[in-house]
Amino acid sequence: MPAAERTVQISGSTVIVRPTAEAASQVAADAIAEIIHAAVNERGKAVLGLATGATPEVVYAKLVAKHEAGGLSFQKVVTYNLDEYYPIQPLDPRSYRAYMHRLLFSRVDLPANQAHLLDGTVPEAFAPEHAAQFDRWIEADGGLDLQLLGIGRNGHIGFNEPSDASVADFAAAPTRLVELHPVTKGDAVREFGAHENVISHALTMGVKSILSARAVVMLATGPRKAAIVAQALRGPVASTVPASLLQTIAERVVWILDEPAAAELGA
Ligand code: PGA
Repeated sequence: MPAAERTVQISGSTVIVRPTAEAASQVAADAIAEIIHAAVNERGKAVLGLATGATPEVVYAKLVAKHEAGGLSFQKVVTYNLDEYYPIQPLDPRSYRAYMHRLLFSRVDLPANQAHLLDGTVPEAFAPEHAAQFDRWIEADGGLDLQLLGIGRNGHIGFNEPSDASVADFAAAPTRLVELHPVTKGDAVREFGAHENVISHALTMGVKSILSARAVVMLATGPRKAAIVAQALRGPVASTVPASLLQTIAERVVWILDEPAAAELGA
């Protein structure tokens, strides 16, 4: 049996394993706070790419706790979220805008015009322009100091779903409107109650902006993620497993896993 708490190197990336999702989330929150402090000290601001879904919920609770304890300000933080359903109203409780407001934005001192999400209400004809603008905003902010990621059971990062594109083309994918993969739609039944209610499209940050981040924290917890985590870390780099492209920037990526998610790594 591997030790419960360990840090190993796999395919050039640091992989931190903790016994529980709670402990893994604490490691992620500590890493994010450290990156915020370092970036603010060095450049006067920290630019964060944020993720939604079930996995990072505890991370946000821990960041709020750090803020409330007086140890973490978001005054000089700028955030860009990975994705948003399309179309969706911002006040719809299932929107990622609402999720972020609930879990983080309303609970810390982040200025409203520094918290950016893709807009689920843009007219469809202007979605490409809106998506391209999002990438320009990130670039104008000097790029992401950190991208927080989760992994879908099909290996997606953001809503960059498995693709037949070449690795080079997929790595250059811009922010855009996409159709969700059947596995993603199946998993979204949790949020939407029934299959027919699941919103089938989304705006997602592209693989290009994700891979350009100066640091990536990938958090995966629970046994449902074990197989895809092993595939993304140990398998070939392939667009059919989007998270495997993180191997191309391995030295900038830290995987933080709980024991169940690490179960198939053999490390
Ligand atoms: P989850 O989603 O945290 O809800 O499992 C992860 C993802 O799809 O990126």
